[in-house]
Amino acid sequence: MHLLILGGTNFVGRHLVERAIADGHGVTLFNRGRTNPGIFKGIEEVHGDRDGGLDGLNGRTFDRVVDVSGYVPRIVRQSAELLQEATDHYTFISSVSVYADFTTTGIDEASPVATTPDVAVEDITRDTYGPLKALCEDVVRSVYSERCTIVRPGIVAGPFDDTDRFTYWCMRASRSGEFVAPDDAARPVQFIDARDLAAFTLMTSEDSLHGVFNATGPLKEALGWGDFLARCADVGGSDALAVWVPERVLGEAGVDLGRELPLYAPLDKPGFATVDCERAIAAGLEFSPLERSIEDTLTWAREDDHELTAGMTKAREEEILEALRRSRL
Ligand SMILES: NC(=O)c1ccc[n+]([C@@H]2O[C@H](COP(=O)([O-])OP(=O)(O)OC[C@H]3O[C@@H](n4cnc5c(N)ncnc54)[C@H](OP(=O)(O)O)[C@@H]3O)[C@@H](O)[C@H]2O)c1
Repeated sequence: MHLLILGGTNFVGRHLVERAIADGHGVTLFNRGRTNPGIFKGIEEVHGDRDGGLDGLNGRTFDRVVDVSGYVPRIVRQSAELLQEATDHYTFISSVSVYADFTTTGIDEASPVATTPDVAVEDITRDTYGPLKALCEDVVRSVYSERCTIVRPGIVAGPFDDTDRFTYWCMRASRSGEFVAPDDAARPVQFIDARDLAAFTLMTSEDSLHGVFNATGPLKEALGWGDFLARCADVGGSDALAVWVPERVLGEAGVDLGRELPLYAPLDKPGFATVDCERAIAAGLEFSPLERSIEDTLTWAREDDHELTAGMTKAREEEILEALRRSRL
């Protein structure tokens, strides 16, 4: 197949490109040439801005298109419409953030998606990201009908992730000492290895699968935080000890859960860690061994001398562990 990938040089898209090349597909990338220029040698890159600058794609045809970098419906419409007759199939990388209500568990593809009161909004914030992705999906469906796949990944993990939501835990659990872990070892956690997401995305594209697929993991069965962090410590060869700090204590200590304890789905939003992926699994979504995800991420972070942008500093850990001790007096 000859694939056009819109984006492809940052994280999710980068793994997709690597996998497509490894699978023997022809790949053309479309981006502005700003993010990680030159990381792929010997594949065609067409440069332009997807907002108003798609001229380089005029008159071109591709077996499949995968859109990894669409966030704004007006802009997604430009590539969707330009390529309508130029490709057989368009896969759009969306997000589980499209869902309206995370207070319930077991969100599946039929669960309602969020809406935005102002469809002209184009600023991407924590509040608008999900509803805008849902509107982007609508655009793709309206143009391609049966000829499109919508993939809704959960939090993506692996090398090159600059959000550090997964990387932080791999790194922290591989160092020694007590560290703050969220609430209770039995609480569920979900994420998907970027390589597993890439393989599944390519499969939907190769097979022209129609429809919407949640895509998260990291296992077919549920994974608890206790098991996750124990595996991180094992892979890292560490005797670090997770100390489970109840959410109430975290709240009283002013912990910013999203930034300081990334990946954690708070008690009032259990939906974030219990997304139902049965549909994707039945279609062929497969999961790599969790140890591989942890090991590769650690290796990348160490080689890259990676500076974490999420998680807790040593001083902050001590402060929170002290708050836990006081709460028990
Ligand atoms: N990370 C997660 O946990 C997560 C979870 C769920 C869903 N997702 C989805 O996964 C995707 C993220 O993909 P990603 O990590 O590869 O990075 P990304 O930040 O979405 O995309 C970056 C790519 O798009 C190109 N690009 C950005 N703006 C452009 C423009 N105006 N015109 C043309 N090209 C442009 C960039 O290259 P240039 O800068 O050179 O143009 C780069 O190749 C998104 O769709 C996101 O919603 C991510």
